[in-house]
Amino acid sequence: MGRAGDAVIQFVQETDKKLFEETIAFAQKQVKALIEKHPDFYPMYTDGGRWKHEGAAWTHWCDGFLPGMMWLFHKYLGRHPQSHQKTANGQSGNGDSKFWMEQAIRYSKPLEPRKNDREVHDLGFIFLSTYYRWFQVTRDPALQQVVLQAGKTMAMRYNEKGQFLRSFAAEDSIFIDIMMNVGVIFYAARELNDKRLREIAVRHCLTTRRFLVRGDGSTAHEGIFDLETGEFLRQTTQQGFRGDSCWSRGLTWSLYGFAVSSEYSRDPRFLETAEACADYYITHTPTSGIPPWDYNAPAEERSLLDTSSAAIAASGMLRLCRLVSDPLKGHLYWSTAIHILRSLCTHYVPFKEPEWEGVLKGGVYHLAKGLGVSESVMWGEYFFVEALEQALRFL
Ligand code: GLY
Repeated sequence: MGRAGDAVIQFVQETDKKLFEETIAFAQKQVKALIEKHPDFYPMYTDGGRWKHEGAAWTHWCDGFLPGMMWLFHKYLGRHPQSHQKTANGQSGNGDSKFWMEQAIRYSKPLEPRKNDREVHDLGFIFLSTYYRWFQVTRDPALQQVVLQAGKTMAMRYNEKGQFLRSFAAEDSIFIDIMMNVGVIFYAARELNDKRLREIAVRHCLTTRRFLVRGDGSTAHEGIFDLETGEFLRQTTQQGFRGDSCWSRGLTWSLYGFAVSSEYSRDPRFLETAEACADYYITHTPTSGIPPWDYNAPAEERSLLDTSSAAIAASGMLRLCRLVSDPLKGHLYWSTAIHILRSLCTHYVPFKEPEWEGVLKGGVYHLAKGLGVSESVMWGEYFFVEALEQALRFL
């Protein structure tokens, strides 16, 4: 590349860096406003841009994401002390980093009893975003114990005959989302040197890979087993368009979850699956980088996009690009992630909409139930900030 090319690359990188820094500062401002307005409230999705409303939860899986964002702000400000001046809350100096740690602890602590929660399949979402991050900061063994217990509780969902972790919906049901939660079992297995926990995590990944991930890298949301025989019966869905369609968030849960599982297990089959999902995303998503809520939705519904899927894809690809051996593939995932983030920051962050309380507009929670459609959603906010924090380490 000649000098002119180098200058263009440098200009693009500096522009991205500035945009991402402004966005992470805006995210801090929005979260600060939220906790001032509704102290100790754990929101899930907005309604008309407002976090507090009477809309149903469907299932309680999101409480880790708000404190998780606070841990990310703390980490980001620790790595980029110069950014203290850029936070849009009028404060400067180390106060911000300290502020976010205090808030992160305040919002993480009430979640501890959920380490024994057997009602949900989401203990990875809840504890990897909170107590795991807290432990990384302080190395206090009591914090690690909470994460390890969450891993053990999660493993109790294992169905021996079908070799899968059951979803919250029913005994015979597996969700693609569980790939984001199997990591807490891998972590507990590694730290406790527990072969049985590792076996459960590996078996669940193999079962998901076999029955929910299709040959073209697309994914089904849910699968149903025969509880008598353990035989797999059919693909179906709760949040997607159809059982045989590809719900975009499920695809990105799979992309990210298999990347994490390959990091823990070093099993090349899991890396291959993460890449297949990423490649499906890249080849089927419009050039904006933001996918439809379901890739197979009818044409009139396909213009409904899900920015939360895009945020998860960006964060997942930023992990994946470090795992793949082919540098060209690594570059493809890195540049796709940056492109997605650029697109989200430019078109979906309500910088100039003082009434909108979220960070990222255009998420879709549950279309069939009419919950959180074209709204801010807490997991979208969390994975968006996670991806920005990861990207800014290298820009
Ligand atoms: N049920 C998890 C999700 O909405 O992605």
